[in-house]
Parts: sequence; structure tokens; C-alpha cells
Amino acid sequence: MAYPNGSQSGSQNNVSLSSRMDKLTLVIFVLCITTYSYVHTIKGSKLMVILLDGFKWNYFDKPGLDLPGFNKMIKNGVRAERMIPDMPSLSFPNYYSIMTGVHCETHGFVGNYMYDIKHKEKFLIWKNKPTVYNPYWWSGAEPVWVTAMKQIMIEGRNATYCKLYNGIPPVSDLGENIDEAVLKMKSGNADLVAIYVEMSDHIGHAHGPNSIEIENTIVQIDRHIQHLLTSLEQQGLKDDVNVIIVSDHGMTEISPSRVINLTTEINMNDVDVILDRGPTVNIWPKEGKIQKVYQDLKRVKNSHLHVYKKDELPERWHLKKHYRFPPIFLVADVGWFILTISK
Ligand SMILES: *[C@@H]1O[C@H](CO)[C@@H](O)[C@H](O)[C@H]1NC(C)=O
Ligand SMILES: *[C@@H]1O[C@H](CO)[C@@H](O)[C@H](O)[C@H]1NC(C)=O
Repeated sequence: MAYPNGSQSGSQNNVSLSSRMDKLTLVIFVLCITTYSYVHTIKGSKLMVILLDGFKWNYFDKPGLDLPGFNKMIKNGVRAERMIPDMPSLSFPNYYSIMTGVHCETHGFVGNYMYDIKHKEKFLIWKNKPTVYNPYWWSGAEPVWVTAMKQIMIEGRNATYCKLYNGIPPVSDLGENIDEAVLKMKSGNADLVAIYVEMSDHIGHAHGPNSIEIENTIVQIDRHIQHLLTSLEQQGLKDDVNVIIVSDHGMTEISPSRVINLTTEINMNDVDVILDRGPTVNIWPKEGKIQKVYQDLKRVKNSHLHVYKKDELPERWHLKKHYRFPPIFLVADVGWFILTISK
């Protein structure tokens, strides 16, 4: 996570990053902006947040990588020692925790793949269905872009300007989004900007956190960070704009020898909905079948699989109190992959 805090010392920065576990696909909008049309600038009052999806905490420390952009931020600012993700350590839950400041059981983004029992509707991370804009998904807590807009008395849940997610954007989109954001901040059309970068996650999932491909991606991202810092200086914005870089979760290697295959362990006739796979799985059994499904899963002999009924979840996960959380939740040990059929 990185910061230059302009108003006090010119160019303080800070850089940190995230945590463990694995996750699959991924979605979001790419660039969201909150506007003040008539507000004059107070030094250091603007904020740019860059979300590097799945950027593992130790990516800065990979030997042999030349990262002048990140290093400039670390040297002139602050790097957090670590970040503990919210449970489940997946993208959507953690982005909304970052943007709202509250845990998943409060904001209600309890997974990348969710089922809302009240509205009988699914939220699937990779599908941009119109129903994902239904306010009930988002209204559990107030995101910072709404808080920012409320300061000028605008109501609603959308940012003033939002580019919609469209496939997995190349790293070069980061450069374009940075240029657009810097211009909007320079012209006084934006005070808060969030830029999303998916490639750090996508390449990590495709090739692993120890691959040459992820190293190349980190270097490419670094070049854009370098460009951002130069651009803020050139535009005279260095003292006005704070920059924070965050990640939502980390990555770990998986293996065909660490798969927990539940394909035939669950009777699909007992189940209404099953969503997600990998480190966590969410299950909504049919009416009266919770205990049956739970017992079937408890019989599976694999010490790396953990089966929970909603009320058995540890308090420290801050997950179980939201109505959207499933009656049964599966968690794998780090490095293990749970395979099920989705329904
Ligand atoms: C928010 O933006 C989405 C996508 O453009 C749109 O479908 C929705 O109607 C907007 N909601 C509000 C309250 O403006
Ligand atoms: C999982 O189990 C099913 C049913 O036994 C089998 O058909 C499938 O090939 C298994 N998948 C893996 C990856 O082992």
C-alpha cells in the first residue's frame, strides 16, 4: 500500500501488500471516480487508490527484480509490514472491506459467488448481469466514494464516473487509467479515484506466484507506478494527491496432489445451491437437509478439509452474522483445493 502525502512533507509514500490463499476468477469495474465540480483544492486532499488484485505480500522482495517505481514509494513513504485479509480472503469481500472499513458480515459481500436467499438471486463474480447493481448487494455499508460524495450532498450508491468491467484488461490499461485520473484530478473534476488492476491476479492464477510470468507482470506494473509518480510531479500534483496501493489477498501454489474432490460426496438432490471452489465453498442445502449434507461432508476423510455450519464459524472471521452467508461453509488448508460441482 503506498502513499505520498503531499501536504506535510512533499513526497511521503508508503507501500505494503497483502496475504495468503487462492481464488479463481475475478471481476470488477476498472476505474471509479468521485467528483467535486466546484470545490477548490486543499493541499493533500485528493486520494488515488490503486488496487492490485492478488498481489502477494512478498512480490516486492523477489530477488533480481528491478522495481524503481515501487521502490521510490517505499523509500519516500511507508510500506506496511503486512496485511491480514478479511475472511474469506477473496477479491470482492476484501475490496468492499477496504472501501467500507467494515467486515464482511456487516457489508454483506460474503463471497465472490453469492446467493441471496431473500431475493433468490445469485451474484457471480465473472458475470456482469444487471442484477449485480441491485442496491441490496451493496447497501450493507457505505463505501468511501459515497462518503466523499455526501460531502457535497449527492445521494446514491454509484460513483460519479465508473468504467464498467470488461474482460481481463491488459496491464497497459493501467497506464491509460492513470493518465485519465491524473487529468481529472488536475482539472478539479475528481478528488477520489480508484484504479483496479487485474493482471497481477490473473497471471498469478494462471502461472503461480513463483512464475517468471508473474515477475514480468510485476515489472510492467512497476513501470506504470513510476510513470504515475513522474506524472504527478510534472502536473504539479505531488503535494495534492495521496497515493495508496493495496492488494486484496495473496497467492499460494496449488498441486494436483492436493485436491479434495467432493464431486461424489454430496448428493445433489439435497442441495439447492453450491457456489465457488478452491479454498472455500458455499452450500445452501434444501429445506430440512442441512444436517444430512453436513454429516455427509463430515464423513469425508481428509484432514485438510474443514466443514462448518454457519453457527460454528469462528467469531474472528466476522462472517456468520450476515443473512447472506450460507448454512454450510467449507474451507481448505492453505495450498489445498476443494473441487465440487456448482449448482
Ligand atoms: C449505477 O450504475 C449502473 C451501471 O451504469 C446503472 O445500471 C444503475 O442504474 C446506476 N444506479 C444509480 C442509482 O444511479
Ligand atoms: C473427481 O471425482 C469425480 C467422480 O469420482 C471424477 O469423475 C473426476 O475425474 C474427479 N476429478 C479430479 C480432478 O480428480
